[in-house]
This record gives sequence, structure tokens and C-alpha cells, in this order.
Amino acid sequence: MPPLLEVRELVKHYPLTRGVLFRKQIGAVKAVDGVSFALRPGETLGIVGESGCGKSTVAKMLVSLERPTAGRILYKGEDITRLSGRALKAVRRNIQMVFQDPYTSLNPRMTVGDIVGEPYEIHPEVAPKGDRRRKVQELLDVVGLNPEYINRYPHQFSGGQRQRIGIARGLALRPEVIVADEPVSALDVSVQAQVVNLMEKLQGEFGLAYVFIAHDLSIVRHISDRVGVMYLGRVVETGTDTEIYDHPTHPYTQALLSAVPVPDPEVREQRERILLTGDVPSPTSVPSGCRFRTRCWKARERCALEVPLLAVPAAFRDTHTPARHDSACHFAEERRVVPGDTRGQMG
Ligand SMILES: Nc1ncnc2c1ncn2[C@@H]1O[C@H](COP(=O)(O)OP(=O)(O)OP(=O)(O)O)[C@@H](O)[C@H]1O
Ligand SMILES: [Mg+2]
Repeated sequence: MPPLLEVRELVKHYPLTRGVLFRKQIGAVKAVDGVSFALRPGETLGIVGESGCGKSTVAKMLVSLERPTAGRILYKGEDITRLSGRALKAVRRNIQMVFQDPYTSLNPRMTVGDIVGEPYEIHPEVAPKGDRRRKVQELLDVVGLNPEYINRYPHQFSGGQRQRIGIARGLALRPEVIVADEPVSALDVSVQAQVVNLMEKLQGEFGLAYVFIAHDLSIVRHISDRVGVMYLGRVVETGTDTEIYDHPTHPYTQALLSAVPVPDPEVREQRERILLTGDVPSPTSVPSGCRFRTRCWKARERCALEVPLLAVPAAFRDTHTPARHDSACHFAEERRVVPGDTRGQMG
């Protein structure tokens, strides 16, 4: 099936300026620096990566809240970064966002009915005025809220219920894609699963495709068909959930996964723990070549000189192993074991 949404070499650089009166550009924050992926109808693409790696910036570009510095966003084959006016509005209707924090993303002065029905103000053609109340009540019911709560205010709801309100608003225009930026991170662990389960149920019911952003790797594995791992503005590895979680070939993914707690003590015993040393470099001064090299235990000269492309590593190209998936590492085929007694350390 052709992709519903495709991103090619997407870039977002924020200018870094000095001076108040005479603003002078002294550099750029490379928030997103060449990201490519595809989303097929009805599937969930999970995006993971540490804080500041550019996940939210990608999300904002997908829903046209930010304009890319370069690159393309194709929706059903059409580059939406070039659209404006009515054509852009029509596309935006089909790509909706669910935000991270249900406490700050809902206007406290608006009733639930006004919040969920707000998209109809922008797209009155979807629901004529006389029909809106009923539509909003239907949406509340669909997300598991009592339709009689329509006149209540956000503060009268729990965090999980507020996120249901956010989801109902995201569904109002019957989009095909929902970009969910850390939709459960702000919620109690006990309600996270309920909201994730609701999102899965809605996906089946409405045939939605999700871009699901999170830093919790277990949640992403649970909901995703495919996963993209981001580091410092780029995707370093993509594959199916099994390929990424059970057969990671990029050192960064391996390190990320090694930090996930394992309940089974025997598995825990066997698994090596890879501790990343050093901090993530600043997106204003990205290392040359492979941007992960300053924290990588495999790094050598080539890594400083040559940017590794996101592709199936040569050694796995003709195999039928789960290692055969895209990974941006010059030495992906090398054993993952960290050498000698520096095991777990990188320098
Ligand atoms: N408007 C802006 N102006 C300048 N820099 C920005 C702007 N928005 C984001 N950035 C920077 O771009 C980088 C990526 O930010 P982004 O919010 O996309 O990261 P993230 O992966 O969503 O992080 P988190 O997990 O903390 O939400 C960060 O270094 C951030 O400080
Ligand atoms: Mg974010």
C-alpha cells in the first residue's frame, strides 16, 4: 500500500541570534536535521528518543504548526509544505494532533462541549451548527466520557479524562492521521494503559493511522507496528517493533533498550547494561560525521568523516534475519558487546 504520509529529508533549524536592536544570526538550533519516514494507512509509527532530539518539532511540522526549513511532507503524494489557503486547510483537517499535557492544552474557561466542538468553528462544513451538540455528545461517548458532562469545565475532570477530551477534539473532524505527542506521559502510570487502550480501540473503529511519540519504550512497543529511533535531530534506526526491540543494530538503540527495566531476573542477569557516558551534544553544535560518535563505544575515524546513511547495512542486505532493517551506523554488523572491563562504559 502506498504511504498515507511521507516525510523526506525534513529539516527545521531555528536561527540563533544575538543582540536586541540589531539581531545578528550567530548560528542555528538544528532541532530536526534530515528526517525521513513513511506512514501507511491504519498503522502506528512510534517515534522514540531522548529529550530534545526533535520529536515534538517533527510533530508540529506534520500538523503545520511549524514550517519546515527544508524537506517535504507528502500527504497522499502531495507536498503539503507548499500548500496555503483553502488547500492547506483541507489537508490539515485530515492530520490532527493530540498534545502531551491535558492540563495546559485545554482552555480552562471553555466548556467541554466548546473544546471538543471547536474544530467545527474552523470547518463548519463538517457539522452544521444545529448538529454540533449531538456530534460532540457522540464523541464524548466514543472516548468513554458521559455525554451529559458536555457543560462541565476541564478542572472538573481527572488527568485521564482530560486526555480523553483532547482525543475527542482530535477526532472531531474525522481525520485519517493522528499525531500524538507524548499523549500519556503526563498521566499517572495507572491511567496510561487505559488511554493507550482507548487509542487502540479508536484506531480500529475509525481506521486511523498514528504517529505516536513517546520516550517510554515499553508503551511504544505495545502500540507500534513500526518504530523510528531519533537522536539529535535524525532518525538513526527504523524497523518493525520486533526488529527494533529484539534485534537492534544501532549502538544508540542498543543503549536505550539496555536501560529499560526487565522484570525477569534471569533475563536481567544476562542482558548487558550499556551506560551512555557524556551528554547529548547541543543541537547548535552537532558533531561531524555520525552525530552519535561522541558517545559511541564503536566510534573510530570513519565516523567523524562520513555521515552514515539510514539504510539496510551491507552485511545484512542479503540475509533474511530481523537485522535486515534500516540503521544509520557504519559498523552496524559488528558485535554489540562492549569491549573488556569497560563493558557498559563508552568513551
Ligand atoms: N522555537 C524554538 N526555538 C529554538 N529552539 C527550539 C524551538 N523549539 C524547539 N527548540 C529546540 O529544538 C530541539 C528539539 O526540541 P523538541 O521539542 O522537538 O524535542 P523533543 O524530542 O520533543 O524533546 P522532549 O522529549 O523534551 O519533548 C531542542 O534543543 C529545543 O530546545
Ligand atoms: Mg517533545
